[in-house]
Amino acid sequence: MRGLSVRSILLIVGGGIAAYKSLELVRRLAERGIRTRAILTSAGAEFVTPLSLSALTGDKIYSDLFSLTDEAEMGHIQLSRSADLVVVAPATADLMAKLANGLANDLASTTLLATDKKVLMAPAMNVRMWESAPVKRNRAQLEKDGVLFVGPNDGEMACGEFGPGRMAEPLEIVAAIEKALAVDGALKGVRALVTAGPTREPVDPVRFLANHSSGKQGYAIAEALARAGADTTLVSGPVSLTPPQGVKLMRVTTAREMLAACEAALPADVLVMAAAVADWRPDIAANSKIKKSADRPQDARSAAEENRVPLIKLVENPDILATLAAHAARPRLVIGFAAETDDVVANAVAKRGRKGADWIIANDVSGDVFGGARNQVHLVSESGVEDWPDMTKSEVGARLAARIAEKLKGAA
Ligand code: CTP
Repeated sequence: MRGLSVRSILLIVGGGIAAYKSLELVRRLAERGIRTRAILTSAGAEFVTPLSLSALTGDKIYSDLFSLTDEAEMGHIQLSRSADLVVVAPATADLMAKLANGLANDLASTTLLATDKKVLMAPAMNVRMWESAPVKRNRAQLEKDGVLFVGPNDGEMACGEFGPGRMAEPLEIVAAIEKALAVDGALKGVRALVTAGPTREPVDPVRFLANHSSGKQGYAIAEALARAGADTTLVSGPVSLTPPQGVKLMRVTTAREMLAACEAALPADVLVMAAAVADWRPDIAANSKIKKSADRPQDARSAAEENRVPLIKLVENPDILATLAAHAARPRLVIGFAAETDDVVANAVAKRGRKGADWIIANDVSGDVFGGARNQVHLVSESGVEDWPDMTKSEVGARLAARIAEKLKGAA
């Protein structure tokens, strides 16, 4: 089932000097797992070649409305329907005028008129053109019709003039695309429970056992779920992060406190256990600081043998994921993480069965995932394994929120 949640856009490249930036845009989108199919207008083809665009999209380039082969393979109606969003970059005065007035005399304008998807335009034109009355009128009309815009920016233009008209930079367009693709409101009415961070297991009042978890991935997931409209509770171990807006935060320290907080937060529709729960805790947490013995032996082993350094006996913590997966109030969708250093996917598949989770998000933690901003994960579900590209933790959160929405909607 690889690729079910792959997001895709249809990019229309109009004729303008900024068309070269669209090549960069395709690359940046691919890095984020967003697939691009492209229409190149005949004016656009004066600035970038179909070959370079095709090499970057990994697909053929569509340009001719009356091509029998194109229509047979992927008709112009299907072209716009198979994408999640239509992006026009650069959006020329001509393309804006055509859509604002319902003209359809080539593949780009016909597709724009026939689409049932949102349209995002990144205008690029000379400053006087941009400020002309007809372009202003067309823009106002397009905005009224629900077309989204990114840019143009102020700056020096290829024609030597200065002012608004420069196409937005590729990364600004990527951000606008991510926003337009976001699942705003898709999780309205859904109750989400997310755990994050490490747990701390006290040895005595000043010492504890813990791990390297920063909590960033769990916080990003809670943030994405809340943004998508879910009523989100975040049960967090000790971390130094600002809580995301709109989530209900429950702070805990130990694994047993985390379990109790999660149980108190039920019922929930979806559980995401992103916390790195300590598997063991000291059998007894001393009430006062354990003192070092005065006459310390030469080596630790003999010290232990002579009973002069404390031997900490560990006992197992409750498995929160397994407990909640078997709970009378089990959430409809139970998602766990698998932090692995070896055989990442195989271990995750086994963990999914052992813990009774519906999905496991597996990541390789042998690198510097802990505390870092990026993550490369695999989603192990009932229908197989999806390998997600390397993304920021926020992007992982957004994509997971989209997948959760898809799943819960499908099951509703
Ligand atoms: N987990 C949990 N309670 C525990 C330990 C882990 O709920 N006591 C959850 C984690 O939040 C995560 C999943 O179980 O969602 C897997 O955690 P991981 O540390 O990878 O697995 P372990 O159970 O510790 O298994 P192992 O150490 O054998 O890899």
